[in-house]
Amino acid sequence: MKVIWNSEIVERSEVRIDPEDRGYQFGDGIYEVIRAYNKQYFCLDEHIDRFYSSASKIEMHIPYSKEELKELLNRLLVETGVHTGNVYLQMTRGISSPRNHMYPDAAVLPMLTGTMTSVERDADQMSKGIATIVTEDIRWLKCDIKMISLLGNIMVKHEAHKRNAEEAILHRDGIVTECSSSNVAIVKDGKIWTHPDGNLILPGITKIVWKKCAEKLGYPVIEKPFSLDDLYDADEVFCSSTTIEVMPVCKIGNNVLFDQVPGQVTMALQKAYLHEIE
Ligand code: PDD
Repeated sequence: MKVIWNSEIVERSEVRIDPEDRGYQFGDGIYEVIRAYNKQYFCLDEHIDRFYSSASKIEMHIPYSKEELKELLNRLLVETGVHTGNVYLQMTRGISSPRNHMYPDAAVLPMLTGTMTSVERDADQMSKGIATIVTEDIRWLKCDIKMISLLGNIMVKHEAHKRNAEEAILHRDGIVTECSSSNVAIVKDGKIWTHPDGNLILPGITKIVWKKCAEKLGYPVIEKPFSLDDLYDADEVFCSSTTIEVMPVCKIGNNVLFDQVPGQVTMALQKAYLHEIE
């Protein structure tokens, strides 16, 4: 399979990563996951903008223009022949040799890689929903940076897996933030609540899309912190991300709290989202 390696598209077997690459040693890097449907990227500009924004928040210089990055990604799509799938794009700060916490000087080039995987939409799961657990948000305080150091996210995802769930809903002192790899929203009396953007959550691209859909459908979206009590009292709960789109939650811990999954509002958003990608 072809992959992106710096400014080239090469065979995966040709890629060489140095053992002193800072991504490998420090988790010093950023990433994006971008979905392609029918041989076209969805929300490519938004993902590229967020990639640049993550880079600037850690003072990492991307030595490519946005147009060059898009061109590379488009070439990857053509050369892999993937119809519907996900690209994982990552940039690390390059090599510090010998190992040194300090940012290297500007002459050290970052390392860009991108891999494409063919993945169909999981309509079955989207109609059944996912089981979740609730656990403490153990991550750091800059969750708006889409960085590759994801140990906190991985640990809570693993906890969910051990408890037979697909996703972990996270809270800080009783305030729901987001999930291990998605944003979360609740529906109460026809209104949608979700945590405001800021340093405690990743500003989701999927969230931008479903918010637009909600606006068109006439559902008010309230971007204010809400509590665990609000979560348990919700009429509907859904998660959102590039890979799972608008995914209903069918269970929280051992409790099945909802009469119908997906609920009316979630289902309307799913339909509107599908319309956006078609
Ligand atoms: N995760 N919050 C977190 C912590 C995430 O990791 C993600 C996405 C989201 C949703 O962002 P978006 O709608 O832009 O995909 C929210 C990706 C898919 C991942 O790490 O695989």
